[in-house]
Amino acid sequence: MQRGQFNSKAGFIMAAAGAAVGLGNVWGFPTQVASNGGGAFVLVYLLLAFCLAYPALMAELIIGRSARANAVTALPMLTDKPQLKVGGRIVGIAGLVTVAVILSFYAIIAGWLIAFAIAPVTQFLGFNEAEKWLTTFSLSRNVAFTFFFMVLTIIIISQGISNGIERWSKRMMPALIVILIALIAYMLTLPNALVGLEHYLKPDFSQIFNSQLIISAMGQAFFSLSLGVGCMLIYGSYLSSDENIVKAGAWVTLLDVGLAFIAGLLIIPSMYIASHFGVEIFDAEGALLSSDTLIFQILPALFEQMGSAGPIVALLFFLLMSLAALTSSISLLEVPVAYVVEAHDKKRHITSWVIGGLITLLSLIIVFNFDWLFGLVIAITTKYSQPLLGLFFCVYAGWVWQRNNALQEIKKGFEDAENSFFWKIWPWYVKFVCPLFIIIMFIHAL
Ligand code: TRP
Repeated sequence: MQRGQFNSKAGFIMAAAGAAVGLGNVWGFPTQVASNGGGAFVLVYLLLAFCLAYPALMAELIIGRSARANAVTALPMLTDKPQLKVGGRIVGIAGLVTVAVILSFYAIIAGWLIAFAIAPVTQFLGFNEAEKWLTTFSLSRNVAFTFFFMVLTIIIISQGISNGIERWSKRMMPALIVILIALIAYMLTLPNALVGLEHYLKPDFSQIFNSQLIISAMGQAFFSLSLGVGCMLIYGSYLSSDENIVKAGAWVTLLDVGLAFIAGLLIIPSMYIASHFGVEIFDAEGALLSSDTLIFQILPALFEQMGSAGPIVALLFFLLMSLAALTSSISLLEVPVAYVVEAHDKKRHITSWVIGGLITLLSLIIVFNFDWLFGLVIAITTKYSQPLLGLFFCVYAGWVWQRNNALQEIKKGFEDAENSFFWKIWPWYVKFVCPLFIIIMFIHAL
């Protein structure tokens, strides 16, 4: 069977940046900044994203393009040793499980955001009951919108690589960037925005070596670049061999980190604007409120204060968040779907609906056991499973795979790779620096 492929380099970059740019950027990063003391977190994050996450991203992309297969098939292909083949399969399968769980909580949050995006429209039309239902965290609303979001995700994935993922990413990503910049331009004209900007951009250097902060920044970087579950590996496997993979990966990293940074320019100043309008933005200890309180209470309270502009800003803001979520959720669903389609020779259309349906069920289990399950699955997958699996991907790229094979793969679209700065440090990085850093952080976290 003919394997799908992205049509162009731009298509790949949009799709992979779409996978990377998601709730992690527009929600996770700004709220982490808020709860980890502002600019210090920004600085550490930037450093880790480029020095730790980018090399790990390249490991996945290069393995993927070389194997032209999903992670479960690709990792065992890197070696002749039977035990290492089995190990590779286990890592791949653990990635599949992790990605399914990530999608199941991701869809719940995305559902809230879509509901909040529709609410201003119902308000405008005068459907007050509907607006109230959309913005209240009831079981019925959460079930309905988790379901709705999963159906959108499944429809795109069932359309395939170039016709589904690439086509939709090329539409949604530019829209997302335009909305983001328009909102920032508007927000920065409001009172108190500059105080927020200062808090965001001025690092408190005493916090920089705070290990809790470093661990959070590392988890954030891994989540944001979609590492450790074979997601970037499968996207790399759809990239043409004629393209310079080092450059393409650098673009994806730049867009991901850049958009997280820019999202911070929107959210942190917005909090201080809200504070100007009398909304409480600090907790009892004097730290900035964050996470869901920030997104679903502080910001809506701010939009309420904006008069006639309020509903429009609210609509654009939650639309932005929903778009970010959708370009990422499709990459999450693609991982198990690609595996079943390739390894078990099934049809993409039916597979998308079956796997998507099973993950929706998992989501609903979380919705019905929200209080104890939601935070738990987020912590297990993003704090532990992802960095640990990311470590194994680096080990397979750096220790198990022949160095020369990796070089030959890079050279396909980048003839002079051997003499490049990238090749001088990357092999060394995935072999030593990334694994060591992850291990140290891991021991520390435990
Ligand atoms: N990176 C996305 C975000 O920032 C989420 C995401 C997409 C993801 N694919 C992934 C996270 C694979 C972990 C693994 O929101």
